[in-house]
Amino acid sequence: MPGKVLTNYDLEKMVDTTDDWIIQRTGIKQRRIVENGQITSDLATQASLRAMEDAGVSPRDLDMIITSTITPDHIFPSTSCFIQQKIGATRAGAFDILAACAGFIYAMSIAQSFVNSGAVETVLVAGAECLSTITDYTDRTTCVLFGDGAGAVVIQKSLTQHEILSTSLAADGSQADILIMPGGGARSPASLESIQQRAHYIQFKGKEVFKLAIQNITSLILETVNKNNLTIEDIDLIIPHQSNLRIIEATMEKLGLPMEKAFVNIDKYGNTSSASIPIAIDEARREGRLRRGDLVMLVAFGGGLTWGSSVIRW
Ligand code: UT7
Repeated sequence: MPGKVLTNYDLEKMVDTTDDWIIQRTGIKQRRIVENGQITSDLATQASLRAMEDAGVSPRDLDMIITSTITPDHIFPSTSCFIQQKIGATRAGAFDILAACAGFIYAMSIAQSFVNSGAVETVLVAGAECLSTITDYTDRTTCVLFGDGAGAVVIQKSLTQHEILSTSLAADGSQADILIMPGGGARSPASLESIQQRAHYIQFKGKEVFKLAIQNITSLILETVNKNNLTIEDIDLIIPHQSNLRIIEATMEKLGLPMEKAFVNIDKYGNTSSASIPIAIDEARREGRLRRGDLVMLVAFGGGLTWGSSVIRW
């Protein structure tokens, strides 16, 4: 996580908002923000080095690097290539994927498939974001939500470590415009006009995203447990994408599960898109919330729309 803390009180000085409103409507108290020229690949590099140390692999062991991000260092080359260079993973192929807040689960599923097929042995998957670079700090409806950060995991075939039992991916492109950064792509390249329209920032229809998130996440969790011949009660911990505490609470209520079965750290970091799930996995592990043999469900929802889940035997 970057060192600079942006609190709700700091935001009170920037836009017409209050600490109370932000906590009541989102559960967020503060978020971390990059400074001094730090960029997405820097955060991802730190997270990747720590993940590799934990996993006992060296950069030369990596066959592939997959990074999920909506705030790449550049549109091209991929942020994974910068990470490859920074960590010295000279043998690794490298590419990025773009599936917004569900991106980390998409990336993990690609890594899992490559490893299971036998094509490669060791894949580094990173989720990293500098959302502060695409957040409009004059728009109170969006700027209170987002933060920066990174997390990473190493995926390998192993008989002794945690096992990914299944991943499920979904998308609905018909709702692409409800959560979007309109400027900067082929449809609207950077221009004086696009800058004046503030098109290079995240824009969303908050209420619609909110409703669809709860609906789709709940259905996917239930489908995923069925697919694995499990019941919802078998799941020991749900690690949801951290976009709004009320989304997490409503989902748990619909599932009939107590909030103790959900991991929450949105109060400290806000919504970090692709980085949110790997950051949460790391914290849950450090806090002793993940015990060997536990069934863990990762679930995320975001722009695209895209959503996905993953069941892990810890
Ligand atoms: O990872 C996926 C991305 N996540 C999302 O896109 C977030 C999904 N949506 C949400 O989390 C919620 O919809 C928000 C947190 C964005 C908004 O919460 P809400 O309960 O849906 O609030 P609202 O948009 O209905 O706004 C209620 C009121 C409005 O005032 P009026 O019209 O009732 O007078 C807003 O103008 O709150 C006002 N408002 C604010 N007031 C103080 C909106 N933003 C703020 C603010 N501070 N920051």
